[in-house]
Amino acid sequence: VLITAGPTRERIDPVRFVSNRSSGKMGFAVAQAAREAGATVVLVAGPVTLATPAQIQRVDVESAADMLNAVLRELPGTDIFISTAAVADYRPSHAADRKIKKTAETLELAMERTTDVLATVAARPERPFVVGFAAETEAVEHNARSKLMRKNLDMIAANEVGHDKAFDCEDNQLIVLSRGNRYELARADKLTLARGLVALIAQDLAARADARKRGTALA
Ligand code: CTP
Repeated sequence: VLITAGPTRERIDPVRFVSNRSSGKMGFAVAQAAREAGATVVLVAGPVTLATPAQIQRVDVESAADMLNAVLRELPGTDIFISTAAVADYRPSHAADRKIKKTAETLELAMERTTDVLATVAARPERPFVVGFAAETEAVEHNARSKLMRKNLDMIAANEVGHDKAFDCEDNQLIVLSRGNRYELARADKLTLARGLVALIAQDLAARADARKRGTALA
């Protein structure tokens, strides 16, 4: 199981960056839950202050581009990819080599899109089972379902973000959508939710394997 977690940092100059409030807690909990379920786990982590769960291989990265490279390097042999990271959607178009001095009254920062790590993995011909996360401030389920289809995912875990919800806090709650099913994981600590999510992934994969076997038997 390959998992991304945490925020990314996009360089403005040698001392400044653009980032977000992700703590990485959900991704680290998912890594621990997958390990407990018996998986070999590689965790690609942005800059976070969390201890690595036992028996997990951790790869530290900084930017969205670093995260994409690490994921593509680790991908061969992966059965399940879980994208919990809050990857920056935009980065400064040019990172300055020297510290930007405060000479002007205003400063405009031109930004460009980063590559979508999750969509890149999901678009590969030999792809693992792909699970995305969606953090939404409104129309949670509608937006999550359209992300599931648009990014060609097998499953998406959606949560509402806002004051005291989801980012950098201990508890969360999730709506989990797959191609045919909808589940709710009630408000709980992130490790409990992560165990629930891993169980749902296992269930979905088992159902597919069964369907394949029945298909083969019929043929
Ligand atoms: N993601 C990613 N690489 C990016 C951006 C997002 O892998 N550069 C992944 C996140 O890890 C998460 C999912 O995509 O699993 C979240 O997508 P999000 O950024 O919310 O969706 P968008 O399609 O960019 O839509 P919007 O930000 O407009 O809601």
